[in-house]
Amino acid sequence: MAVLLNRLSHRRLPALAAAFRQHGSLTKDLIENMDKKETWDRFYRENNAVNHFKNFEWFFGFEGVRDVILPVLRAQARHSAPLRVLDMGCGTSALGSGLCAHSQQPLHVTCADISPVALHLLREQAKNKPVQPKNPGSTLAFVELDCCDLRAWFEPESLDLIVDKGTTDALLRSREGPAKAGRVLRQCLAVLRPSGCLLQFSDEDPDARLVWLESESGGLGAGAAGVRVQEVGTLRGVCYFCYLITPPSPAAAQPPPPGELF
Ligand SMILES: C[S@@+](CC[C@H](N)C(=O)[O-])C[C@H]1O[C@@H](n2cnc3c(N)ncnc32)[C@H](O)[C@@H]1O
Repeated sequence: MAVLLNRLSHRRLPALAAAFRQHGSLTKDLIENMDKKETWDRFYRENNAVNHFKNFEWFFGFEGVRDVILPVLRAQARHSAPLRVLDMGCGTSALGSGLCAHSQQPLHVTCADISPVALHLLREQAKNKPVQPKNPGSTLAFVELDCCDLRAWFEPESLDLIVDKGTTDALLRSREGPAKAGRVLRQCLAVLRPSGCLLQFSDEDPDARLVWLESESGGLGAGAAGVRVQEVGTLRGVCYFCYLITPPSPAAAQPPPPGELF
């Protein structure tokens, strides 16, 4: 047990360490198999007593990331057409409902996860306590999917924003997950509009994540995906980052204007 706790307290696994303190019997699964549907079904089942649902946030709730996401949405707004947003690997997070409830821009938010258990819980919550969207044109949907196959669900260049809060981290830290994480990144880039972006919230240090993003998205230079990073904040002594990734295009290769977010 002590050995496992030491492993989980490692700098790269703070969110997992927090989950472990609550779910001792899930330890082995969570360490090795965070890329597996069965692991997450079990996690969300054991994490939720019947009739006692509470949104679980792997790290940071909506309030912790709103000041990063809402400005990105504002910058993308086009006339009155809703922006298409995907919360990829939503779990039972309240991020999707938070975006609907707080975005001035109309949004079509899809909360997607590989775990039907998580999605059932979110659907029940939405039925029992419907979200009041800030913009009446906003909608919220829940979809069970494997994000390794985003292209089976979304047309090429059809999404404005993909938010990934801890999902790529989970894949990268699994025994068989790293190849999936690279595939997911490339699928994201394929389904994003040229003006769209992927936001990866992560505790992984830029030294490691930037190298991985650049190699998995096709390298550096003009025509490559754009990658930028900003610090989001500190939780339980661990610093979290947001990586903003834009699809390959000549415009994406330009540096951001001075003073802009990211
Ligand atoms: C670390 S949790 C993060 C959950 C949520 N975003 C949050 O912040 O609380 C990772 C989530 O990714 C989901 N996941 C793992 N592999 C997936 C896949 N291939 N496709 C879709 N979702 C996946 C898991 O079910 C889990 O809900």
